[in-house]
Amino acid sequence: MNRRRFVNFFLGGSLLGTAASLLYPLIRYLIPPRQAEATAKRVVAAKVGELAPNSAKLFRFGSSPALLIHTADGELRAFSAICTHLTCTVNYEGETGTLYCPCHNGRFDLAGNVLSGPPPRPLHTFKVEVSGEDIFVSRED
Ligand code: FES
Repeated sequence: MNRRRFVNFFLGGSLLGTAASLLYPLIRYLIPPRQAEATAKRVVAAKVGELAPNSAKLFRFGSSPALLIHTADGELRAFSAICTHLTCTVNYEGETGTLYCPCHNGRFDLAGNVLSGPPPRPLHTFKVEVSGEDIFVSRED
């Protein structure tokens, strides 16, 4: 191998490596890995006594965030924590007793209905059951 061929081989390899390092993340972005669809229908959201009145806990319902709320009246309610506007995560605000989306000031009542802001639909609600020491949350449909 003469010097010219060696330099061409070296530069060609470098060019190929650079192209691969640029294309690989682009291809991974365009074709995301397959994720198993969450099929959770019933999950343990919390233990009895874990939540003080007028507080909430964020938990995973399948692959999505959900909120379990222990209201000031002592009721347990659960909602999808995904805002119906642009899918930001909703939080519980104890001072007002409402669910609040910080992205665009969306606000929901404790039935999941829209009180103010841009969300077009109510929050999805879940069924809550207490069994033994566990608080179960399940889909209502
Ligand atoms: S994403 Fe919740 S109000 Fe816009």
